[in-house]
Amino acid sequence: MTQSTELWVDRNNYRNTRIVNATLAAPGQGEVLVAIDRFGLTSNNVSYALSGDMIGYWGYYPAEGDWGKVPVWGCANVVASNCADVPVGERLWGFFPMASHAILRPGKVREDQFVDISEHRKALPTLYNGYRRTRAEPAFLQSMEVERCLLFPLFATSFVIYDYLVDNDFFGAQQVLIGSVSSKTGFGLAQMLHDDPQVTRRVIGLTSPGNVAFVERLGCCDELVTYGNEAKIDTAVPTVYVDMSGDTKLQSVLHNLLGTNMVASESVGATHWEARGATGDLPGARPQFFFAPSQIGKRETDWGPGVVMMKAMMASAEVAKKVQGDLAVEWIRGADTLASAWSELLDNKVSPDRGLMVSLL
Ligand SMILES: NC(=O)c1ccc[n+]([C@@H]2O[C@H](COP(=O)([O-])OP(=O)(O)OC[C@H]3O[C@@H](n4cnc5c(N)ncnc54)[C@H](OP(=O)(O)O)[C@@H]3O)[C@@H](O)[C@H]2O)c1
Repeated sequence: MTQSTELWVDRNNYRNTRIVNATLAAPGQGEVLVAIDRFGLTSNNVSYALSGDMIGYWGYYPAEGDWGKVPVWGCANVVASNCADVPVGERLWGFFPMASHAILRPGKVREDQFVDISEHRKALPTLYNGYRRTRAEPAFLQSMEVERCLLFPLFATSFVIYDYLVDNDFFGAQQVLIGSVSSKTGFGLAQMLHDDPQVTRRVIGLTSPGNVAFVERLGCCDELVTYGNEAKIDTAVPTVYVDMSGDTKLQSVLHNLLGTNMVASESVGATHWEARGATGDLPGARPQFFFAPSQIGKRETDWGPGVVMMKAMMASAEVAKKVQGDLAVEWIRGADTLASAWSELLDNKVSPDRGLMVSLL
């Protein structure tokens, strides 16, 4: 018997949380019990809740009634196993609940990964069913566990967006606007564009006044514009907007300012999760939801199996090393402290230089 601790979130009111302590039975036939000793917590996890029904994020670790378990990226050890291919002692990286423990059902086990084949996960996006068996990976990756939990899932998306823009010759744009650029996904993209000598487009970041100094320190944008000052942006040149904020008023302001010079508008995230709404028809290119798996699928064909994710991982490691001194990793231990950190995230009280790592063990 194992004592587990979980943090559940009310699916109808994310500010309402519940700490659940339970006794877990031993893993059933074909299953493993894992102890999750670390996971990262960022706005991306709030977005998992927001799109929990639409994309299915609530389905990976079902809870009861209106409660949900928000998924996170973390590392875990197999502490009990009823699956011969994945023995006790294995180290894993993947998609876990905000919890101390979880039960997985490994299938398609390869040396470096397996897929969770639980019945309830079959209809869900497959990307999140894969678990890396990290001991089969290069030593440099094994030494970057914190970065993998906190940064890689976001920087990997930055890489896919960067690659999508390059692959499409920036849709003819001469500048790239990044909404909520102080987010990890946002500054990861800015950094990758900035570091590529082939990319000549100006990178303009949009952020709050309080986060300007942080982004300036990173040195990844040619220009920073604070919310409310969008009129300062040069609207005479073709422009791509990549939006991590989900703020529809901001989107509307930018489209109206740029008109037909808004040549592509990619909606990636919703850090400003309470500022979403309908916009109606907007001037310029029609905003579209950026669907990373489409570009990943295209590159699987262009470059061969696994190459795009390997490139994304290398690019993530590169940016992670660069920003090491600009992010202070903070360890959150215990479910009460996690509940407070979750509300801070919801209330925009986590400054971008804080990297929240959690352990409920
Ligand atoms: N579609 C995909 O495949 C995909 C993949 C990865 C990430 N994303 C999305 O990208 C977004 C960024 O995620 P992240 O984890 O990189 O973010 P993060 O690092 O946690 O972002 C922090 C920044 O977001 C803004 N912010 C955070 N909480 C806020 C709140 N409650 N109200 C208003 N602004 C708030 C602030 O930036 P500013 O002041 O600069 O606005 C803050 O500095 C998320 O919505 C995530 O879901 C999407």
